[in-house]
Amino acid sequence: MNPNNQFTQENYEELCEEIWHHNKLYYVKHAPVISDFEFDALLQKLESIEREHPDWVTSSSPSQRVGEMLTDGFLSVKHIIPMLSLSNTYNRDEIKEFIARVQKLLHREVITFTCELKMDGIAVSVRYEHGEFLRAVTRGDGKQGDDITSNIRTLKNLPLRLMGKDIPDVLEVRGEVFMPHLIFEELNNRREKFGEQLWANPRNAAAGSLKLLDPKEVAKRGLRVFFYGVAEDSADIISSQSETHQYLQSVGLPTLEYHKTCQSIQEIWDFIEEIQEIRSNLPYDIDGVVIKVDALQEQQKVGYTAKSPRWAVAYKFAAEQATTVVNEITVQVGRTGVLTPVAELIPVFLAGSTISRATLHNEEEVVRKDIRVGDTVVIEKGGDVIPKVVKVDFDKRIEGSSPWAMPDKCPSCGSEVERISGEVAVRCPNIAGCSDQLLRRISYFVAKKAMNIDMLGDKIVEQLVGVGYVKKPSDIYTLTANQLYQLEGFQEKSVSNLLKSIESSKNVPLPQFIMALGIKYVGAGTAELLALKAGSLENLMKLTRSELLFIDGVGDKVADAVIEYFGDQENVEEIRRLLDLGVSPEVLEIVDHGDHPFKGKTFVLTGTLDRYSRTDAANLIKERGGKVTGSVSKKTDYLLAGEAAGSKLVKAEGLGVEVLSEKDFIGFL
Ligand code: IVH
Repeated sequence: MNPNNQFTQENYEELCEEIWHHNKLYYVKHAPVISDFEFDALLQKLESIEREHPDWVTSSSPSQRVGEMLTDGFLSVKHIIPMLSLSNTYNRDEIKEFIARVQKLLHREVITFTCELKMDGIAVSVRYEHGEFLRAVTRGDGKQGDDITSNIRTLKNLPLRLMGKDIPDVLEVRGEVFMPHLIFEELNNRREKFGEQLWANPRNAAAGSLKLLDPKEVAKRGLRVFFYGVAEDSADIISSQSETHQYLQSVGLPTLEYHKTCQSIQEIWDFIEEIQEIRSNLPYDIDGVVIKVDALQEQQKVGYTAKSPRWAVAYKFAAEQATTVVNEITVQVGRTGVLTPVAELIPVFLAGSTISRATLHNEEEVVRKDIRVGDTVVIEKGGDVIPKVVKVDFDKRIEGSSPWAMPDKCPSCGSEVERISGEVAVRCPNIAGCSDQLLRRISYFVAKKAMNIDMLGDKIVEQLVGVGYVKKPSDIYTLTANQLYQLEGFQEKSVSNLLKSIESSKNVPLPQFIMALGIKYVGAGTAELLALKAGSLENLMKLTRSELLFIDGVGDKVADAVIEYFGDQENVEEIRRLLDLGVSPEVLEIVDHGDHPFKGKTFVLTGTLDRYSRTDAANLIKERGGKVTGSVSKKTDYLLAGEAAGSKLVKAEGLGVEVLSEKDFIGFL
């Protein structure tokens, strides 16, 4: 007899409710009353019933958290209520000006504001109908965004069904998706281990994760969401921002953790200072405090500009800094032999991760800032993964310290270093024999953007180079199971995984293969241009300097470097060996875009695009015969403006240059 036959549909629905209840206790209230094991057992029971009665399953079943694979990118959805941005303030006076503006518009002195956290994540609009999760859409250009329903469905603190009695037919809520610090650090550690590129900050990690096309992968990224507002509520339940937080919580939605109603600049400022103090202890990134007129009716009276509400402003914090001590200044040897000084620091927690090193860029920078071993320094994280040293606290300098100088010999192989006149870089000239250079070249060769051998992390590369199995990239394709068994930590499974991962890298796309060669000045973008022009490796090796210069985006420096690279017999032999060992870069079909509307047009790019990096967007323009320049002038035909476009947009509008949104751009493509 089937064990689930005794279950009625009513029992099934009760089980769904029970699971949602425990889910809420765990993720919203942070107070579970059953163990993970018991919770999983309930889920398994549910899934087994659903296998027997697939007709009972609705989209709000707890089993439907991970949706099916999207195959065709994201659908575009129009926002019924536009998603606006906030105007920013950076000091107390600017907040005072905001208060005065609101007082004037409301003809009143005393106004109640709600102050709350400004989450540093990705804006999302989530719609519930009859209490059931229906759809989630990104901000996009504010008027329409991407439908990311299947991805958002995987967020563990998002209820797929609302709780409680006061559930309107339609409830559309606005919030921010983010990646908690702990998860960010864990993900980046894993990426580092596998030699993958690190995320610069939790926000980028969240944004990248939300754009994955496979919701099952998104589910592994540990994203969370907090809601701060209601865009549409068919029952008009809420009358103020402070009520919004309470109401959202009462229906089971995760909300912002800190908020306060204030009536004066002093109260607002106290709240800001309070938050600034706890900021570094929060388990997620915030980039400021949002100050909102509390009563919704008053918000409507105060109104909106085209871009943002007049009833709210953001107070933005300065970049987070930390103070620590330089234990040592080491020198790293890059894959091209360039020596980079690195500050080894007493570990300190800063903006989502523990920092123990900071790049010092080059000798000149260390001398200019006079950074010495033993110095107390202020570090800051900009947009990059690696933090920088902002300044030295000279008052705390220890007596007897001496200025730092670049060593005369390579710290890896002991060769005499070279200084090339006109360049800041100091190099180790021992290309063939320097083990650090080799290590970095191999790591670069196997990286995700290059050959993408994902099982070959830095630690394994170190082992392989250390025992001498790998002296040049092609040696990777001669590795045998027997050799790998000799290495510490290798067992049947890891050996077979590594060999499989090496094997599957053989059919790498041509741009990635070109990138893997490590030709000077040829990064991912240029590799793509070269591949598009040549179509095949054979053709690329035959291109003349003038043919190379004919490619839009390739200048003298790149053309010379490519010619020099393929002119070196050793490089050609290494490529032949790779091909003989079975590496076979995919040949590209050269697409002729004919007379595309971009042909002959000059573009300037500004702001952040949702779907493309700037390099990708520039390549798409160039492939279609357009040109990309850095600044707006009368000669500019189009300004491609993403989110947070600034002065370039203003200038373009002033000059009457046509402005394309990302959506317009995609339309043209
Ligand atoms: S209210 C119409 N409140 O900041 C006003 N936004 O710079 C809409 N954000 O895209 C925004 N925390 O995603 C509001 N407590 C908060 C916020 C918040 C983060 C984001 C939001 C928006 C951006 C505007």
